[in-house]
Amino acid sequence: MNTKAVIGVNPQMPYSIEEAINRLRINVSFFGTDIRKIMIISSEPNEGKSFIAMSLWRQMALAGERSILVDADMRKSVMVENYQISREDGKELWGLTHYLSDNKKLEDCILTTDIECGDLLPNVNNIINPSMLLESSRFSELLDKLAQEYRYVFLDVPPLGLVSDAERIGNLCDGAILTVRSGVTPKSIIHSSIAQLERAGCPLLGIALNRANAGGGKYGGKYYGHYGSKYYSDKYYAN
Ligand SMILES: Nc1ncnc2c1ncn2[C@@H]1O[C@H](COP(=O)(O)OP(=O)(O)OP(=O)(O)O)[C@@H](O)[C@H]1O
Ligand SMILES: [Mg+2]
Repeated sequence: MNTKAVIGVNPQMPYSIEEAINRLRINVSFFGTDIRKIMIISSEPNEGKSFIAMSLWRQMALAGERSILVDADMRKSVMVENYQISREDGKELWGLTHYLSDNKKLEDCILTTDIECGDLLPNVNNIINPSMLLESSRFSELLDKLAQEYRYVFLDVPPLGLVSDAERIGNLCDGAILTVRSGVTPKSIIHSSIAQLERAGCPLLGIALNRANAGGGKYGGKYYGHYGSKYYSDKYYAN
């Protein structure tokens, strides 16, 4: 029996951001039933992978599709801290690295949430070099098992440019959504990320343009007000 998560930070997004994520959700639902394990990737750090992964998982689950969000950024995981996630039963929180390296049971690591169809597999302990864990059969078998139990397995991962983790994870996924920070990520870097995904054998499902600029610049879009919470303290723009 999985434990329920207590999520301390539940930011309300403006309607327009909800709408942008909703469009992304609808596009994802057109991919077909074979596309289940989806990695949210970017070329460089800080382009909004974790934000998009969390928002897409949430909307998909709210739409009634059984979905799990796996925090597979084992080097610099932020999910637990940013959303202040703990267990409802007050016990110690376990996550992906516990499952992979300490032989913890999966049901002790997966958390249910207030969203009936939305579960989380957080990461609690960051580790310096997760390569061995990512290459283990326990990891690939985990993803296959989750893909049988959930309609969508969304994976939040480290950026492509820094370490090879995402290539390994991508090789095990059915596809990737490449997050691009509007007006910031250089085209040449986007091209080399696409080539990297190809080499990893991970189909590119689409590109999510994040933080499209205010004032109808190159990508149009609108400005949306800022939020008081720690994580959402930045200014939001349509995605
Ligand atoms: N559409 C957006 N509008 C405003 N701020 C955003 C948006 N998307 C993400 N952010 C903010 O930008 C910062 C980086 O986002 P996020 O953590 O999702 O990026 P990341 O690609 O996961 O970074 P990392 O590579 O470090 O894992 C966060 O503070 C987040 O709140
Ligand atoms: Mg991240």
